[in-house]
Amino acid sequence: MTMTFSVSRAIVTGGARGIGAAIAERLSSEGLAVAIFDLEARAAEATAREIAGRTGNRVLGYACDVSDRDQVNESVKLAAQDLGGLDTMVTNAGITRDAFLHKMTDEQWDQVIGVHLTGTFGCLRASAPYLREHGNGRVVCISSVAAATGNPGQLNYSAAKAGIVAMVKTAAREFARSKTTVNCIRPGFIDTEMTRAVPEDMRSAMLSMIPLGRPGQPEEIAAAVAFFCSDDAAYVTGAILDVNGGFYM
Ligand SMILES: NC(=O)c1ccc[n+]([C@@H]2O[C@H](COP(=O)([O-])OP(=O)(O)OC[C@H]3O[C@@H](n4cnc5c(N)ncnc54)[C@H](O)[C@@H]3O)[C@@H](O)[C@H]2O)c1
Repeated sequence: MTMTFSVSRAIVTGGARGIGAAIAERLSSEGLAVAIFDLEARAAEATAREIAGRTGNRVLGYACDVSDRDQVNESVKLAAQDLGGLDTMVTNAGITRDAFLHKMTDEQWDQVIGVHLTGTFGCLRASAPYLREHGNGRVVCISSVAAATGNPGQLNYSAAKAGIVAMVKTAAREFARSKTTVNCIRPGFIDTEMTRAVPEDMRSAMLSMIPLGRPGQPEEIAAAVAFFCSDDAAYVTGAILDVNGGFYM
């Protein structure tokens, strides 16, 4: 049996590269029309063109800074117009601004809270009218294993990612009325530009703590997103799925 999808029009934030690009490609290969939101129009459009070239389905790129509420409202409206509606929202855009607590600047705190917490809130709020109207929609939010374990140097990031988990649980209860599911993925150590920036000694220390003995691939997070968006997951909502090679159980 292959996966089936009743949803057909998705936004993926932070989709120009890394995990977001893998999610956009997987949803596109499953037949959904996809709008990629990212900081720069050119990067979003280039990735959209590449994915569309491989899948043969409609993929569009938009410049949208998810921490800017006005941009989010405008971009969601525009994407929903271009896609002919909206039934799926995947909030994936993310940044790190690491520093130990005693050295963390207000700017590092504000930027991380802005992208992850305000960004997820803004995207959920802007997409809510479309999902409520359509019914049977899908929301998937990308958190992090750091929400569960904490991580030295990531007080801002782990707090924001834990906030996303709580947001998902409340949104799942609210969206249930329109038979829309809201779920969360907490990736572990995934091989992307974000983790390539981690110093080599920390990287080896992280890898030694992963029972499956390797970093995850962006496609392995995309597979979990596809499951949550599929008809197979119609009865799954408010769930937190750890995809981390056993790093945290
Ligand atoms: N890589 C990992 O190991 C890992 C682990 C746990 C969670 N995550 C989470 O997964 C998500 C994707 O991470 P990644 O590893 O692919 O990172 P990445 O840095 O490779 O890609 C992030 C993407 O988000 C975009 N982005 C950043 N700020 C944005 C903003 N304000 N508005 C719109 N787009 C913005 C970037 O331009 C980039 O295209 C993030 O939420 C991250 O916190 C990653």
